[in-house]
Amino acid sequence: MSTIRVAIDGPSGAGKSTLARAAAATMGFLYVDTGAIYRTVGLSARDRGVDPGDEPAVAAMLPSLRVELRYDEAGQQRMLLNGRDVSGEIRLPEVSRYASAVSALPVVRAYLMETQRELARKHDVIMDGRDIGTVVLPDAEVKVFLTASPRARAERRCRELEERGTPQPFEEVLRDIEDRDFRDTHREAAPLRQAEDAVLLDTSALDFRQSLEALLVIIRERTGL
Ligand code: DC
Repeated sequence: MSTIRVAIDGPSGAGKSTLARAAAATMGFLYVDTGAIYRTVGLSARDRGVDPGDEPAVAAMLPSLRVELRYDEAGQQRMLLNGRDVSGEIRLPEVSRYASAVSALPVVRAYLMETQRELARKHDVIMDGRDIGTVVLPDAEVKVFLTASPRARAERRCRELEERGTPQPFEEVLRDIEDRDFRDTHREAAPLRQAEDAVLLDTSALDFRQSLEALLVIIRERTGL
């Protein structure tokens, strides 16, 4: 039986993972956070003292990595690196920088492709990332390009940082988002771009509930579920 594949791409901070997770729970699909997979490879480079921009060095490291996804009783995705649960560690800001660097390497993208496609062959999935609709699952039944203006994303990020007790000035957060957007859209390997057949969902003026509703309408319309 063929599976249903929902691809959600977009820039960081657009609310992809929160919305994709909630939509997957509503639809009864498996949620796959592909950023976590790149983060796991980034963590490994950091742990082994490998320069994440040095493609031959990173390529030499890959055969000794076992990157696995697991789902706990609550349905949360966990990442295992050679059997060790690294789900917490991969969220460290330092690991974000390593993940960003290794994700620009074609050798890493090729290495992780099959892991992602295999999940979509076995399960109905909502998969989020940067190149899911364009490269990983070009035949996905539903493609959404989820975005929000840099200012809206910076405002949300500032609120999150404040709630965590680590506030940062708005202008700094905004600059960081704009820099990351530039890097994501200008890299050579699988740059972030909207697939031609993707539906654009701009959540700048929507709250979480409204964004989720809009996302579910798109998914239901396209799948007939
Ligand atoms: O979504 P995130 O911040 O967890 O992603 C971590 C890094 O991996 C980020 O620099 C973008 C990159 N990434 C990617 O290149 N392709 C994907 N499909 C998912 C993430």
